[in-house]
Amino acid sequence: MSLPMVLSCHLILMLSSFTGAANGYYEHRWTKCIHSNRDFSDMVFIDNYAFNKDVDIHFNSTVGYYVGYTEHGVYNSQLWNNDTNLLQQERAQVETYCKHNAEIRQSAIADKTVPPKVKLSSVTQAGGRHPAVLMCSAYRFYPDRISVSWMRDGEVVKSDVTSTEEMPNGDWYYQIHSHLEYTPKSGEKISCAVDHAGLTKPIIIDWDPSLSEPEKNKIAIGASGLVLGIIIAAAGLIYYKKKSSGQWK
Ligand SMILES: *[C@@H]1O[C@H](CO)[C@@H](O)[C@H](O)[C@H]1NC(C)=O
Ligand SMILES: *[C@@H]1O[C@H](CO)[C@@H](O)[C@H](O)[C@H]1NC(C)=O
Repeated sequence: MSLPMVLSCHLILMLSSFTGAANGYYEHRWTKCIHSNRDFSDMVFIDNYAFNKDVDIHFNSTVGYYVGYTEHGVYNSQLWNNDTNLLQQERAQVETYCKHNAEIRQSAIADKTVPPKVKLSSVTQAGGRHPAVLMCSAYRFYPDRISVSWMRDGEVVKSDVTSTEEMPNGDWYYQIHSHLEYTPKSGEKISCAVDHAGLTKPIIIDWDPSLSEPEKNKIAIGASGLVLGIIIAAAGLIYYKKKSSGQWK
């Protein structure tokens, strides 16, 4: 379920006190347009008037008239509700302001798609039912709807698969991580398939079981150690031969 979209607009007026002191009074008005449906049929327009921290007048387009909360707010809301022109204008905002802007925003931002970047890696296991775990990660995609699936020798794998939710990065993009627990078999082919609205065809990455990253590192360290050992042994042998041949003279 998608979260409601909120378009919010703030207007802050600072009324300095006549003494010119640093403290001021804030007359604060903010409007919000809230909707979840793509056709904007559930659009709600909210208009708030606040003095310092207190909301004194509130308008909700579903309710259709101003509601006052403070003495001053109640007085003004009655005055405004009696003004047919003002009330008509305020009620029309849900169309002229909210839906109008939401349509522009939707075509400029919400309808755009950014395809994911996909990475397949081996991760260390924390006591699961199978000895090996692969992680298929999709990064920086928009919108959040995505499909991540696993295939083993051409067959779709459903069991031993766990996935995170689509996680928002906080910058409009999302990421998701799917894990496959498995027992390796020689000669098998494991693939991760990712499909998204931003792709013309799914991204399929095949797992290369020959070597995973940590194993490659271990081999590199081992090989360096071996070379170092041979050099030291050779140096020792040469030194020993020179020394022993010297003694025989
Ligand atoms: C607007 O009013 C409706 C009807 O009373 C209510 O269900 C809704 O929660 C209100 N919306 C906001 C954001 O206050
Ligand atoms: C609003 O209109 C009603 C009815 O016409 C009237 O009784 C009331 O005094 C008016 N309120 C204000 C604040 O003008």
